[in-house]
Amino acid sequence: MPYKVLVIPGDGVGPEVVEAALYVIKAAASKYGVDLEIKTAEAGDAALRKYGTAMPPEALKLADEADVIFKGPIGESAYDVTSLIRMRYLLYANIRPVKNLPGVPAVKEIDCVFVRENVEDVYVGAEYRVGDVTIALKVITEKGTRRVARVARKYAEMRGRRVTIVHKANVLRVVDAFFRDVAMEELRGLEVDQMYVDAAAMELVRNPKRFDVVLTTNQYGDILTDLAAQVAGGIGLAPSGNIGDSKAMFEPVHGAAFDIAGKGIANPIATILSAAMMFEWMGRKDVANAIRVAVEKSIEKGIKTPDIGGDKSTIEVGKFIASII
Ligand code: IPM
Ligand code: MN
Repeated sequence: MPYKVLVIPGDGVGPEVVEAALYVIKAAASKYGVDLEIKTAEAGDAALRKYGTAMPPEALKLADEADVIFKGPIGESAYDVTSLIRMRYLLYANIRPVKNLPGVPAVKEIDCVFVRENVEDVYVGAEYRVGDVTIALKVITEKGTRRVARVARKYAEMRGRRVTIVHKANVLRVVDAFFRDVAMEELRGLEVDQMYVDAAAMELVRNPKRFDVVLTTNQYGDILTDLAAQVAGGIGLAPSGNIGDSKAMFEPVHGAAFDIAGKGIANPIATILSAAMMFEWMGRKDVANAIRVAVEKSIEKGIKTPDIGGDKSTIEVGKFIASII
């Protein structure tokens, strides 16, 4: 049975980086014998203009049928597509590895993996306005915390180091303290420490090597993973995987970058490394590793986009990486 992959190219630089990644995905699938059935759906700002909804029924139907979604960045309507997919399929863990790539200038050395809770927190969309007062609900549940903490446990056991729980329990003394305490319990037996989110932001710049697995709530994870990506050398390199119990979605951490869209200069590496994560999720670590090695080779050979000091286009980088595979 083939894996049913739904590709959502997205907005801005999305179609370019996804096209580049598809060269790699197809080369890897045929070389390593992974049976993929690839379909494509329109979703995002362009879909909103065309169909009046950012996630049209056709995209939703294809997403329901797919085993896995491979998605580019979405523009202004990102919440209506990205968060909808995360919530609809309960993709409760957002895995965001952050690691330097050889030959890419970085702020500091860093090698950690963020396990970001992905369906709760202020992302539940419970916002209200009563006259001149506005309210947003931050929802953290025991069940939601336990299941994401178990994912952090798995990564900690794989990597053999420490989990840092990041929260703001000194202010959110009910909600964040609950997240911390439940997570702490679920991680019992492992080396665990904790940090306030503001201090974690500072430490990620000051001494990023102290982090290994970082377990945090949805919004802190959103913010810190952009920060950490920049520490590692730039957000154009940062992949992610949204994982549930049966389905998953892979996407770059970066946004639609409308300012550089259509110029062919967007770095496809974040999206290509997200494809590597997808193959790993399919149980094909060999394919994932082949993609990662090919990405490193392309950088070594100077086949790079301008953001990391090269002069090649998005598609040239994608095709080159595909050709190595
Ligand atoms: C991300 C994005 C999304 C988020 C937005 C676009 C809804 O920033 O995946 O990090 O906040 O989760
Ligand atoms: Mn983000």
